Amino acid sequence: MRVLLTGGAGYIGAHTAVALVEAGHDVLVVDDLSNSSAEAVARVERITGATIPLLSADARDADALTAFVREHAPVDAVIHLAGLKAVGESVAEPLRYYDVNIGSSIAVLKVMAAEGIRTIVFSSSATVYGEPESLPLSEESPTGIDLANPYGKTKRMIEEILKDAAAADPHLRAVSLRYFNPVGAHDSGLIGEDPTGVPNNLMPYVARVAVGALERVGVFGDDYDTPDGTGQRDYIHVVDLAAGHVAALEHAREGYEVYNLGTGTPVSVLELIAAFERAAGKEIPREILPRRAGDIAASYCDPSKAQRELGWRATRTIDDACRDSWNWQSNNPRGYATA
Ligand code: UD1
Repeated sequence: MRVLLTGGAGYIGAHTAVALVEAGHDVLVVDDLSNSSAEAVARVERITGATIPLLSADARDADALTAFVREHAPVDAVIHLAGLKAVGESVAEPLRYYDVNIGSSIAVLKVMAAEGIRTIVFSSSATVYGEPESLPLSEESPTGIDLANPYGKTKRMIEEILKDAAAADPHLRAVSLRYFNPVGAHDSGLIGEDPTGVPNNLMPYVARVAVGALERVGVFGDDYDTPDGTGQRDYIHVVDLAAGHVAALEHAREGYEVYNLGTGTPVSVLELIAAFERAAGKEIPREILPRRAGDIAASYCDPSKAQRELGWRATRTIDDACRDSWNWQSNNPRGYATA
């Protein structure tokens, strides 16, 4: 298949591009490069040996998308990853989040309809489950529009938009992938997570402490109702996650489907830090801080639907993710800026 990958220069996008090429697909990328790097696409080309056309444009720009798709016709499918993803920022700038995330999804769907492209895979998030009523989370677990932040609400709303679009067009194949916590990097050490500024998420924060760019990890609460008191998450290696996109694309059927992409295994903050210490062979300084507003105690999935219907499951462990994250971070202490 020839696949248009929006957000293909980002962390998950670059790894997905590698997985697509390795599975025999052609990839073209549209990315506005606002929180990503053209260097990531260049490195995907280096890893795969493929040429990947890159359009530097906002995914809300339907005219630019149309011209790009026509230039590379026939395009068979879209994997739509472009969007804003910082929870705190979404609380401060809700209109920007609704505009960019929902506007780009609608533009993509309109271009697909006009150009006869019938398959879309969308990057949703476990955040749509909000505070879990019970664990593990299955695709049937309740979700709500009443989520804690605009970022999560955009993911939930886009899922609804896809569901309605698929109900209206019997030829559309639409899949939402609810990611748990993506971590790790490609084992080449050439691509990885490169957040701008101080990272919000745990794994890139720990990696920057390990490399000496930050002093110590703040552990946000050790009084949760979990085995060691720190928050538990389902950390999924980004290379497994990327393979999940390929499986979803290749198994997409007419209609709308949702899949959890996670490991099913909860890992605590202290367990992740310990795994990183083993991988890096050094101590990671940490201090216990108060809970972060909006955080939940634990989140992990039942990944069996994806295994059953897509033939996909995560095979990499938290130790694999820490090893690969450390390899990326130590080889690229300033991310893509060192290139
Ligand atoms: C966060 C977002 C989620 C988003 C996901 C994307 C929030 C509240 N949630 O998930 O909506 O889909 O990122 O990757 O921001 N922690 C620390 N110290 C740190 C950072 C995190 O102790 O410096 C803890 C957190 O309390 C949590 C765990 O580490 O228990 C994971 O946090 P994080 O990596 O930010 O992911 P989530 O909060 O699960």
